[in-house]
Amino acid sequence: MKLVFYGAGNMAQAIFKGIIDSKILNHNDIYLTNKSNENTLKSFAKELGVKYSYDDAFLLKDADYVFLGTKPHDFETVASRIKSHIQSDHRFISIMAGLSINYIREKLETNNPVARIMPNTNAQVGHSVTGISFSGNFDPHSKDEVTELISAFGSVIEVDEEYLHQVTAITGSGPAFLYHVFEQYVKAGTSLGLEKKQVEESIKNLIIGTSKMIERSDLSMEQLRKNITSKGGTTQAGLNELDRHDIESIFKACLDAAVHRSIALSKSEDE
Ligand SMILES: NC(=O)c1ccc[n+]([C@@H]2O[C@H](COP(=O)([O-])OP(=O)(O)OC[C@H]3O[C@@H](n4cnc5c(N)ncnc54)[C@H](OP(=O)(O)O)[C@@H]3O)[C@@H](O)[C@H]2O)c1
Repeated sequence: MKLVFYGAGNMAQAIFKGIIDSKILNHNDIYLTNKSNENTLKSFAKELGVKYSYDDAFLLKDADYVFLGTKPHDFETVASRIKSHIQSDHRFISIMAGLSINYIREKLETNNPVARIMPNTNAQVGHSVTGISFSGNFDPHSKDEVTELISAFGSVIEVDEEYLHQVTAITGSGPAFLYHVFEQYVKAGTSLGLEKKQVEESIKNLIIGTSKMIERSDLSMEQLRKNITSKGGTTQAGLNELDRHDIESIFKACLDAAVHRSIALSKSEDE
């Protein structure tokens, strides 16, 4: 299988490094290109054994999957590099936020299969939650291949394209929302009189440990919480206070705002 990456920036790197690490593909099957920063490509070729080129005919000849990994505003230039070299069996995978499958096809002047993925930054540690949508003409075998490639850097959730906005809000922006909550927890913890460094270290380990409990337990998060909340105890006292502030509606407003912004951005990108 031959994979070509147009764009070798932060997100594309997380993807091709994840694919190489998971040994789904050999590094020889991965080809990179970017706009002009050849030193970056050279260092990936040296470090990972991947190939790179600026010759589009060479890159796209017999390619199976073409990753579109630039910023959305650079896509028109990329499309003009690609379109005259498209073969009927090329399948495209876009990581560009906000650009619809229809828009991508229109700019590439093709009806070839296109998948859109919405990874998150945890791809860098192999734990992205990646939303994926396929155009209707993606055959089942290719869908399985793409899902396997994407699983190399985390878990995958397939949704209709219109729901990628929700995925963008819940898991795309999700790491930032959780970091923000953890930051407030550190601030509140520090106010109790312990040293900031001690509190930060303790909360970091608390988050890691709690994540592992969620990962390894068959119980729901609700049940895990109930199991450690004794009636009239300290945990119950703290939880009562959280409930008084209706945390759910705060998160609902946060996610609604992110969904609305994603929809607005996609409208302006597609214009
Ligand atoms: N970062 C995230 O957490 C995240 C999450 C979800 C989705 N995304 C999406 O991922 C995409 C890439 O984001 P990023 O943060 O990885 O960007 P980035 O680090 O800025 O990388 C952009 C890459 O595109 C290349 N490029 C620009 N114009 C090109 C052209 N005409 N032909 C070929 N390559 C070209 C750049 O090459 P040069 O270095 O030579 O300029 C660079 O390698 C965006 O569309 C974003 O919406 C990112």
